Amino acid sequence: MRGIFITFEGCDGSGKSTQLRRVSEALKARGVDVLVTREPGGTPFGELVRELLLDPAGPDRTALAETLMYSAARAELVLRVILPALEQGKVVLSERFYDSTTVYQGYAGGIPIPDIEAINRISTVGLTPDLTFVLDIEDPQVFHARLGPKKKDKIESRSDEYHRKVREGYRDLARRYPERIYLVDASLTEDEVFGAVMSVVQEFMDKARER
Ligand code: TMP
Repeated sequence: MRGIFITFEGCDGSGKSTQLRRVSEALKARGVDVLVTREPGGTPFGELVRELLLDPAGPDRTALAETLMYSAARAELVLRVILPALEQGKVVLSERFYDSTTVYQGYAGGIPIPDIEAINRISTVGLTPDLTFVLDIEDPQVFHARLGPKKKDKIESRSDEYHRKVREGYRDLARRYPERIYLVDASLTEDEVFGAVMSVVQEFMDKARER
């Protein structure tokens, strides 16, 4: 059986990593073969691209160059890591995937959405997540508070307006793809968010088993 591909999306500081870790632990405790990865990153090439793109002192670049760099890292991850794991029947959990490019470089960065969608199709060789959770936070203050005193990376340090467009982009994607994307209120407690996420994952896995 082909595996299941689940992605976690949301603004910086929305609690994606925590929820992904909890889902991974819960599935592993049930004996599920899980592979955890992240974007940009997850391969030696991708981790270098990550350093280049997120270095706060790194060079400025156009949204188009940024789109293509994220996409290059994604192609490497899809071909070398995600597709082989899915072929082995694993549940792959990724922190971010192409929806991040659509909202950060498209909705917020200004690259036309049809162009982004075409690039996404190429960089993923057509792979689409089975399920996507968007952790939604309304208040940018929560975002600043969660990021804490650590130095912000290149993208985190962009304006509140940029991050507002990111959030609106995610909300729009959730409206456009309701069968795949679940918008979760990330202002709830960590346990409540986990409960909501896990019940969708469970239902999906039960249905997949029946097929
Ligand atoms: P994170 O792993 O801490 O979320 O950092 C990744 C940053 O890169 C985050 O600010 C979102 C941004 N990003 C994009 O702008 N486009 C993309 O395609 C991806 C995957 C991430």
